[in-house]
Amino acid sequence: MVAVVTGAGSGIGKQTAVQLAEDGAKVVLAGRTKSKIDQAADEINEGLGQPAAVSFQADVTKEEDVKSLAQFIQQTFGDLHVLVNNAGTSGKSSIMDMEDSEWDRIQNTNLKSVFLVSKTLGRLMMNGEETTDRAIVNVASLSGHKAGAKIPHYSSSKAAVINFSRSLALEFAPYGIRVNSVSPGFAETPLTEEGLKNKRFEEAIQRNTALSRVGKPEEIARVITFAASKEASYMTGSDLLVDGGWLIT
Ligand SMILES: NC(=O)c1ccc[n+]([C@@H]2O[C@H](COP(=O)([O-])OP(=O)(O)OC[C@H]3O[C@@H](n4cnc5c(N)ncnc54)[C@H](OP(=O)(O)O)[C@@H]3O)[C@@H](O)[C@H]2O)c1
Repeated sequence: MVAVVTGAGSGIGKQTAVQLAEDGAKVVLAGRTKSKIDQAADEINEGLGQPAAVSFQADVTKEEDVKSLAQFIQQTFGDLHVLVNNAGTSGKSSIMDMEDSEWDRIQNTNLKSVFLVSKTLGRLMMNGEETTDRAIVNVASLSGHKAGAKIPHYSSSKAAVINFSRSLALEFAPYGIRVNSVSPGFAETPLTEEGLKNKRFEEAIQRNTALSRVGKPEEIARVITFAASKEASYMTGSDLLVDGGWLIT
């Protein structure tokens, strides 16, 4: 099995790549910062004691980079079974204070990238042998299900990822490609590191989460790898909320 994870140099993406490799996949770690994806791939290969991971530098907001990634996969493996669109970023601003460029930065990184990568790598997945289960998992967010203070660009991009995934699921089903999204709640990663330094913020998360704690990247990754696996062979067009019970409190 061949898998690609975008934004695989840290956090949830890195843990997803680790678990896919442990489950027997050849994994391409795609990301913007070369040193991060190189190090993550090295760690995976050292941990497994065999070469299962390779890195490929790509900015997923740039079509030429995404096409190069597709070419690399085609030439190296000749096929693709699993795509995890995980790359994403966040920011904080009210609507009235937000510059257009900040709106575009978030929408391009979180939403346009999912369209670009799914379209380009999806073509590769469609051309493969029909015998194996193929899957795309898009990483959305709890914020795609509710409003959040000063993250209108982030929450709208993630709501769109959830619904884009449903459209993609419909369009790709005839090709045997399942598409689902996973919506993490609050997990401890470089993305949330700054916020979690604030004790009051961490306490608020504990108060607002039924399980009274922040999630670990590996707890999110396990749900992503489930959605990507043939254990989930009858699931497409679904969103899996992994939020420690935030939405129910
Ligand atoms: N942590 C949470 O609480 C949480 C909650 C809900 C949803 N999520 C979602 O989970 C996903 C992973 O986030 P994380 O928490 O694991 O944070 P993270 O460690 O910051 O991971 C995000 C990764 O995406 C990469 N990336 C960003 N822009 C990119 C681009 N244009 N091209 C290629 N790679 C790019 C980053 O690499 P560079 O640093 O090299 O740019 C980084 O490695 C994101 O989609 C995020 O929105 C996270």
